Amino acid sequence: MCANVFMKYAFVLGRVYTLSVAELIAVLEKADAGTGLTGEPIRIIEASPEVLVIEIDKPLMTDRLQKKLGGIIKILQIVDVVQKREQDSINFALKHYFKPSVLKKNFFKDYKGKVQFGISVYLLDMELVKRPNGGNHAVNRAQKGKEQNFSNPFGEPKRLGMMIKKVMTDLGQSIRLVLPEFNSLSLASVVVTKNLLLQKGAEICILAGKTQVYTAKTCTVQDFEDYGRRDYQRPARDEKQGMIPPKVAQIMLNLSGCKSGDVILDPFCGIGTLIQEALLLGYKALGSDINKLAIRGSEQNLEWFRNRYKIPPGKYHLETSDARQVAKLLIGQNIKAVVTEGTLGPIYSEYPKPAEIAKNFKDLQALYKESFAEFAKFLPAKSRAVMCVPAYRRNRDSYEMLPDLDFINGLGYNMVDIISPAIAKKLPFLRLTERGTAIYDRKDQIVAREIAIFEKQ
Ligand SMILES: C[S@@+](CC[C@H](N)C(=O)[O-])C[C@H]1O[C@@H](n2cnc3c(N)ncnc32)[C@H](O)[C@@H]1O
Repeated sequence: MCANVFMKYAFVLGRVYTLSVAELIAVLEKADAGTGLTGEPIRIIEASPEVLVIEIDKPLMTDRLQKKLGGIIKILQIVDVVQKREQDSINFALKHYFKPSVLKKNFFKDYKGKVQFGISVYLLDMELVKRPNGGNHAVNRAQKGKEQNFSNPFGEPKRLGMMIKKVMTDLGQSIRLVLPEFNSLSLASVVVTKNLLLQKGAEICILAGKTQVYTAKTCTVQDFEDYGRRDYQRPARDEKQGMIPPKVAQIMLNLSGCKSGDVILDPFCGIGTLIQEALLLGYKALGSDINKLAIRGSEQNLEWFRNRYKIPPGKYHLETSDARQVAKLLIGQNIKAVVTEGTLGPIYSEYPKPAEIAKNFKDLQALYKESFAEFAKFLPAKSRAVMCVPAYRRNRDSYEMLPDLDFINGLGYNMVDIISPAIAKKLPFLRLTERGTAIYDRKDQIVAREIAIFEKQ
């Protein structure tokens, strides 16, 4: 964990940054002694599709927090803020900043041996950030020069890195610099991890706005290997039905409003991804699925998971059941939320015909309607159902979505915006749908996931 003196933190957002922001706010505004959070509303001081900066009164346990956040790539601690003129490049603004004392005190801890350090630049200036599909972290080079004042943001990490390296080398320090790939401004978390930057030196991050530049030090990066293990090393897989990525499962669970020890239900649990992620977040979990083979897959996976992640016995239970008849299995269970991928209908490798989409939507709406009527039997007032419904990806930016989510009508639920209107107004770059949901997609997939939150009245 980083030292406690600074109270500004920056969170590097994942590819689908709207979901990253939704999850982050939900987690940061929930009291949690384990991470140092008090449950107070967070104070966002800067944000772009790449990074969000907050101010907080108490230090955060960044290691613990990082493990909980599926949508956050890195957590940084802000060290300083340096004013700059709009026309100045980043390295010009920081020309006199990286003094030996500043570097030694704030960025590099004592390390005997060759220091490894990396440098990343994140853009806070919206004119420079071009991620139209929520998926492209790189600055659009075609725009470069037209609407920006930096000389060349792609050269900045190298220029800054060389500046720092020179100061350290002049001090007699043997040092190696790790730079982002040529078409990127920042280091991937895998590069930070593989080069042991946080153990043997530092990753120094620069958050560049129009008139000020934040300097920051990376506290933690997402454990990409562990997410891979939780996905691909499981004994049972189900490519036909599709499996939700563990990161997205974690985001959905974090949107459920539950706290450690609460019981969640996934009534379309498949091979158990949401259940395993719930266990890792400290929840108890019940899973059911209409398909016996899926439940067998869940059993195998969760047995493996329990051993691998040292989950105490008795934290989950699985049953074969139709979601529309699940209430009778839950008598006496204190379910605090339903978190589920639902079923998304058929998976396609080519864009389906409109009639096929219309039929899928109709069938699913009927299933969802009956399922939500069933969940209403056991969900307490104010509890949530967080669910994915399918959205067919027409092209990079547009989707055919369920015409409406009125399957909850008359069943005693309200829809909850995935991000509150006040924050959405403050962060106009967020990609929210008109009905307050957000879409998780992958470039190779036609069936994307629209994530919606319903609250029991
Ligand atoms: C997309 S998969 C869920 C995958 C799961 N999230 C995972 O990562 O393993 C949807 C699941 O819904 C189940 N299902 C479909 N209709 C159902 C119903 N009426 N009741 C319960 N489960 C159902 C399917 O058997 C399938 O396992």
